[in-house]
Amino acid sequence: MITVADVKNDAEVKAIMYMAESQIEALGFTEHSVRHSSIVSRWAGEILQKVGGDAHRVELVKIAGYLHDIGNSVNRAGHAQSGALLAYKILTRMGMNYRDAAEIMTAIGNHDEVEGLPVSDITSALIIADKADVHKSRVRHNTTRMSMAEQNIHDRVNLAAERSRVDVHPDTGEIVLDIQIDTEKCPVMDYFEIYFNRMRLCSRAAAFLGKKFSLVINGVRLS
Ligand SMILES: [Fe+2]
Ligand SMILES: [Fe+2]
Repeated sequence: MITVADVKNDAEVKAIMYMAESQIEALGFTEHSVRHSSIVSRWAGEILQKVGGDAHRVELVKIAGYLHDIGNSVNRAGHAQSGALLAYKILTRMGMNYRDAAEIMTAIGNHDEVEGLPVSDITSALIIADKADVHKSRVRHNTTRMSMAEQNIHDRVNLAAERSRVDVHPDTGEIVLDIQIDTEKCPVMDYFEIYFNRMRLCSRAAAFLGKKFSLVINGVRLS
């Protein structure tokens, strides 16, 4: 079976991820590169494993997590769909069977909150892991020197996020997103402004996995 390690070492994947990141950097968006992809891959695998996914599906979601933003190499607009098609082509070229590659294609094509929906267990774990990665290290250095008013809201929210962690509660089975925000750098309302739709999608994704989704900000449970 093709593993996430095989995918990470593939020359075509490396080239496409390089172009995805350079395009996102040119647009001035938050980091979407190897760091983000690796975190999403790991968290998505942990979520699916903890809700009962078998080893095979856990490996598939790790691959989906690593490749989910490669469509940014084509264009930010529609990156979920273009990335899904790219991933399918790469994975079948690497020798993955068509069914597994199609599972990953579906998950990547549905990971974005604009038109994505949790249509499978792999898609659901990917959505939650992707939306959970909010962290100050994602903000580019040229924006960290700006005042709060000059930064865009995504930078402000990410810059204020001291810690972000998603886990499945060992007793209740709830999927908990726990975020620590520095409210001096960004009001919690800013977080809600950009994350409301994403959190709604996370709730639906958790429901697909048969779990409840909880959001905890600065130790306060909000849902
Ligand atoms: Fe994305
Ligand atoms: Fe992402």
